[in-house]
Amino acid sequence: MGYPPSPAYPSRAVTLSGADLDATALLARDHEHLQRLLQELAEAAAERAFDRKKVLFRAFKAALQVHATGEEEVFYPAVMKLRSAWAREAVREALEEHQAVDSIVAEIDQMEPEDGQYDVKVEGLRASVEHHIGVEERAMFAEARNHLTDDRLQALGRRMISLRENLPGPALAPEL
Ligand SMILES: [Fe+2]
Repeated sequence: MGYPPSPAYPSRAVTLSGADLDATALLARDHEHLQRLLQELAEAAAERAFDRKKVLFRAFKAALQVHATGEEEVFYPAVMKLRSAWAREAVREALEEHQAVDSIVAEIDQMEPEDGQYDVKVEGLRASVEHHIGVEERAMFAEARNHLTDDRLQALGRRMISLRENLPGPALAPEL
């Protein structure tokens, strides 16, 4: 092996403070994790470490699914209720971007890591994910924090955590 496994989310025994429960903070932490996995995937591609690419892609896919479910089922619906037309527009765009990202993920899923096009697709995935994260963090999260109280943001965070605990699969929320 020779390389450490990518930091899987440790499981849940840590006490969270209110700030950690804030939905936007939780989602931003997911973003960091997703970006780190994509960075490691790019490094594995440069090293032609095919098995590692496979493992990292699988971890990315699982983490993305958990993240996107939390956004789509808890966070975006809350943002859709804000008195902010452009926040609602941001949600509509984000949902379209989720679909675009999902279809790239599905394509990569069908490829072998030895395939010459694999790394090209992963780079495309990385660009889409980076763009999506940038828009969410700069615009949507900021707008949510402007409109929602800390209590409300924490309640949303709690709902995402309990949703995650009930999802199948190994990828739990970070540091829960
Ligand atoms: Fe996100």
